[in-house]
Amino acid sequence: MLNEIKPGQRICQAVILRLQKVGNSSNGGVFARGMAEDNSGKVQFICFEKEIVNRMRNLSGPEAMIVTGNVDIVKYSKDLAFQIVVQRMEEPLPEDDLSNLLPAGDFDMELYRNKLQGLIALIRKPTIRSLLEKIFSGPFLEDFCKNPAGMRMHHAYLGGLLEHSVDVASLAVSMADSIGKVDKDLVIAGALLHDIGKVREISANIGFPYTTEGRLLGHITMSAFMVREAAMELKIPMSQLSMLEHIILSHHGDNEKGSPMACATKEAFIVHYADSLNAIMNQFDVKDKKNPWEFNRMLQRFLYVKEPEARKAPAPAGIQTEIPRGSEAGEVKGQKAGEKKDGEIKVGPDKCNGALFC
Ligand SMILES: [Fe+2]
Ligand SMILES: [Fe+2]
Repeated sequence: MLNEIKPGQRICQAVILRLQKVGNSSNGGVFARGMAEDNSGKVQFICFEKEIVNRMRNLSGPEAMIVTGNVDIVKYSKDLAFQIVVQRMEEPLPEDDLSNLLPAGDFDMELYRNKLQGLIALIRKPTIRSLLEKIFSGPFLEDFCKNPAGMRMHHAYLGGLLEHSVDVASLAVSMADSIGKVDKDLVIAGALLHDIGKVREISANIGFPYTTEGRLLGHITMSAFMVREAAMELKIPMSQLSMLEHIILSHHGDNEKGSPMACATKEAFIVHYADSLNAIMNQFDVKDKKNPWEFNRMLQRFLYVKEPEARKAPAPAGIQTEIPRGSEAGEVKGQKAGEKKDGEIKVGPDKCNGALFC
């Protein structure tokens, strides 16, 4: 595994290669460099073998390869970073085990699937609820639960889209409760649907590459198209559909951030900020917390990722921070998922993550 390699070691393992640069070296040769990744982490690679560099030039995106090479320290690096000096590169055979290449999220998939259903059950308007029931069903539901929410920036692991969407909806509901006079049906629906286009924008294959359709249209447009298509079949009134589509089309907040529309309703602002906050909080879920400070590419700053003791302390009595495993999302004592007490909706832990920077 890449997180265990040490300088001086010779490795031979399956990795995902992401080519970043091909150029001429000072001695007249060629070089290629980029990142080698597995589900334990990533490390730089460099290659000076002309034949391999030429094959790397032809890679159309991140690809699984079996690489052989030595581990050394990057020349002139201030932080003594490691790199793999690649000497052999072979395409994996069908019998090769590549299970170490797809990153997995640290969350309970079944619990989140239940939470998704619990959130849909909280929607009071039958038209909006039926729209979500139609979309989150069949093969699409399976793809939605499998896809990452990003290629690299946030929730870039199997099931990341499910975890992100559910957590954004949970957070948005909490915000709506605090703010008041908000259409919570729209908030829940908008939050759960805001990124559904990512199922078609990002492939769940090795390296999570963007699809051609994704590069051409982008997930915001595709999410809106998918909602419109389902809504037309169900004959959802345009007055409701427009409000929902506005949340999707404005969920990145402003035009400069990729949204065709800037937020113009309370519900759209709530989903936008829940989405953004959730994406930012996901940056703190780093596996390697040996260094308290880590440079974050998405936010372009150092983050303090070490967990202080105060954050590990149990919540004060009376504050529920986690739904017990096996319980339904949206379920509180003496109350079934989907039932409401005045002003109260329980949708489980507000473990923050989000999707803006993808
Ligand atoms: Fe998102
Ligand atoms: Fe998004």
